[in-house]
Amino acid sequence: MVDFSNQPTMKGFFAPTRFEADVYDCEVIGKIPSELNGAFVRLGGDWFYPPTSQEDSPFNMDGYLGMFRFKHGIVDYKGRWVKTPRFKADRRAHKQLFGVYRNPFTDDPSVRGLDRSVQNTTPLAFAGKLFTLKEDSLPYEIDCNTLQTIGPWDFHGKYKSLTFTAHPKVDPVTGEMICYGYEATGLESNDVFLYTINKEGVVTRELRFKVPYISMVHDIGLTQKHVIIPVFGFVTSMERLKQGKVHWGWDSTKPSYVGVVPREGEAKDIRWFKGPERATVHTLNARTEGEKVILEAAIFDSNPFPFFPPIDGSPWDPQKARAYIRRNTFNLNSKDDGFTEEKLFQMNVSDLGRVDDRYLSLPYRYAFTAYSDPKRPFNEARAGNLRGRVSNCYGRFAGHRCRGCQSVPRSRLQRGG
Ligand SMILES: [Fe+2]
Repeated sequence: MVDFSNQPTMKGFFAPTRFEADVYDCEVIGKIPSELNGAFVRLGGDWFYPPTSQEDSPFNMDGYLGMFRFKHGIVDYKGRWVKTPRFKADRRAHKQLFGVYRNPFTDDPSVRGLDRSVQNTTPLAFAGKLFTLKEDSLPYEIDCNTLQTIGPWDFHGKYKSLTFTAHPKVDPVTGEMICYGYEATGLESNDVFLYTINKEGVVTRELRFKVPYISMVHDIGLTQKHVIIPVFGFVTSMERLKQGKVHWGWDSTKPSYVGVVPREGEAKDIRWFKGPERATVHTLNARTEGEKVILEAAIFDSNPFPFFPPIDGSPWDPQKARAYIRRNTFNLNSKDDGFTEEKLFQMNVSDLGRVDDRYLSLPYRYAFTAYSDPKRPFNEARAGNLRGRVSNCYGRFAGHRCRGCQSVPRSRLQRGG
């Protein structure tokens, strides 16, 4: 019997949906341009079976693909679970066999050694294939017509990391993908493998290095010349896993580190810059200007996630979990490991901002992200207070202005129209 009634956080809007569907000729409000021919694919998480612990992270939900297929002014919808070995094992057992987030010690013994990844983070269309991505495993290839799960993909055996980021970067100039895996050689390893994969899907470069401490390396920044690797206060250890805890806890005493490495560089060329307690979960964009490498991102003051609590036992603090659009500038001519940080917009923003992918790694003007404007209404009764991190606006932010091709930023980011 599947029973979600004792899951207090899975009610209403947050209740699991638990279905697969095909909806042909979706109802349309307005008119779809008849020349629009293609698919919009989204990937997210949903619990098929309830988690084994109330302490678990939503990042442990099963992956679910939704696709809207447009042609001749008509749209069809298709929804499918990502059929990982884990999903199939759970289905056979009619219950959740896997324990808390990225902790195999909490699994049912019957699934020991099985790929325990859920593929719930990012869909990726690259080199003629559709993939789902989750940072604790290889990409999974998906049939782009049926959404059936084909299985893990290691780029013809040349991608050696056991893990693959959910946020690879595709260079709009060359078409190649810069991607990486952290904990690359196994659970609790400090290895990162960084790859370049050409637009045909062939691995052309591998760089292996180690991070200052084992941490979440969820996203990177890419410029035309450099890769930027943020490392921040989430910590883990074999000891905490054996205690049955979720993979990550927050250590507020840990400095943030940011690695900068030339795209053609070797491990010895990485410079690690050091900063205060911060969390750079997602990046907006980055660029290289002479000897300066510039990263713009929504950066949190501290731990953004209540489900990865502080390791010192203190309660998660929503007041400190605030993100602002910040610009970090790394001077490659500097003699020390410091960098500058500017706060470009004074209101809290969501960390899931984007730029037009055609400008990734290049000078750009606009970024788009949700943010919180205290002067504008927010229906807390309906949406809950989300523990202090609410968004009630979506903004276009105008900043770097490109004159010619390599101009210096002329203005700070401003709230756009
Ligand atoms: Fe992400």
